[in-house]
Amino acid sequence: MTGTTRPARVRLDQQRDRGPLDPRLFGSFVEHMGRCVYTGIYEPGHPSADEHGFRRDVAELVGELGPTLVRYPGGNFVSGYHWEDGIGPREERPRRLDLAWRSIESNQVGTDDFLAWAERNRLTPMMAVNLGTRGIQAAADLVEYCNLPSGTHWSDLRRHHGREQPYGVGLWCLGNEMDGPWQIGHRSAAEYGQLAAEAGKAMKLVDPTIELVACGSSNHTMPTFGYWESEVLEHAWDVVDHISMHAYYEERDGDRRSFLASGADMDAFIDGVVATIDAVAARKHSSKRIGIAFDEWNVWYQSRFNDEGLPQITEAGRLLEDDYSALDAVVVGDLLISLLNHADRVRIACQAQLVNVIAPIRTEPGGAAWRQPTFHPFAAVAAAARGVVLAAEVDCATLPTDRYGEVPTVTAAATHDPDTGAWSVFLTNRSPAPTETCLDLRGLTAEVAPSARSLTAGDPAGSNAVLTATDLSYGSGDTLSLVLPPESWTVVEARPGARLG
Ligand code: AHR
Repeated sequence: MTGTTRPARVRLDQQRDRGPLDPRLFGSFVEHMGRCVYTGIYEPGHPSADEHGFRRDVAELVGELGPTLVRYPGGNFVSGYHWEDGIGPREERPRRLDLAWRSIESNQVGTDDFLAWAERNRLTPMMAVNLGTRGIQAAADLVEYCNLPSGTHWSDLRRHHGREQPYGVGLWCLGNEMDGPWQIGHRSAAEYGQLAAEAGKAMKLVDPTIELVACGSSNHTMPTFGYWESEVLEHAWDVVDHISMHAYYEERDGDRRSFLASGADMDAFIDGVVATIDAVAARKHSSKRIGIAFDEWNVWYQSRFNDEGLPQITEAGRLLEDDYSALDAVVVGDLLISLLNHADRVRIACQAQLVNVIAPIRTEPGGAAWRQPTFHPFAAVAAAARGVVLAAEVDCATLPTDRYGEVPTVTAAATHDPDTGAWSVFLTNRSPAPTETCLDLRGLTAEVAPSARSLTAGDPAGSNAVLTATDLSYGSGDTLSLVLPPESWTVVEARPGARLG
């Protein structure tokens, strides 16, 4: 395709917002896998290590990236994990064989170490319990260890280990990807639904304030998708608060156009899960509104990993250290638009993972820490999106794709903070041609000076690509115009303080 595509028009509607933005939408994920923990966030002996052995250079980049929440400790890892191995004096902790990733787990980082690190970095923890090789008792014990003030075996053990106050972990995952045949302890939907209900019941008996996430489907193409969610919720409806979704995207067989449209699949996947939740609610005559925790999403070149076969047993080996391109970053930005547009139901989301393993931040042992291109759209959205998510109606051309049929060339999401007047619009241009775009702001103009920055898939800087300034011009009324570069992702933001135009 040459030239330009039909101009696009994006109408923001303050009257039809999608509700308040839950800050937990900008979560991340730390799994005991590869080098996410060891030589990722934690590396005693590194020149930047703090007194706890955690890397300060990584913590600084995490601060700049801006996640609000971090899921821990897995992932597939959790399904074989004995959390008790990771507490108490480090020299007494066992070295175990982790079967999920065929790795040696030294247990030098465990529950207390992670939760204290999260607290120092102002990150809300989201903990997962092992419903693969373990079950109800181990899950309830972990809640007791983390959340009970004192006077019981596990809470007093935590205090003995130096942590007087409970951590107050509010969000818990009931296992991980239990629908997947690869998962250790994989179960049928009915078996898992019953286990999740009983484990969740016990966990809430320890601490009734916690929120629980049941495992949904591991991806949109699982043969049990739909049936799994329905059956699990039939059993666990009364006890769970959210159901999880996971999705990873990659460019397959050179089909760039479908890859750029990955957000269309995420939209359809979320809509399918919402419909399934609501069908169970209707069957049960329940007014309970179960939310979605999209607690693993990202671009991941999974087919390359699958082709490699069973990994050799290593300790903190290099697993899934994908090098991302500007194209991958555009797709990540588009996935964030999909999540924002479903903020009324998707309350929690975690980009998987935080460091080294399919991550926006990379490190070398003893060496540098740096940002991948996928860092930039996440950081931009986490910094700019506040308040409520507005309805953003897009009128634009469509593009044919092999995987997802006709998709819009332009996608958009917008937020507005009524307290400060700040607003932001995020846009993807999936077309290989530039697209003139008019933003119809409808009253979002007072006391703000907008600016725009774009990231283009074709950026010659490739893996060093960053967001660069894009021209904006003022049209009649409350409109702004800009040309979206080919295959690009753009943030337009207006911070309070100056007038438009
Ligand atoms: O994030 C990598 C892995 O992907 C996780 O361990 C698992 O839950 C998912 O399949």
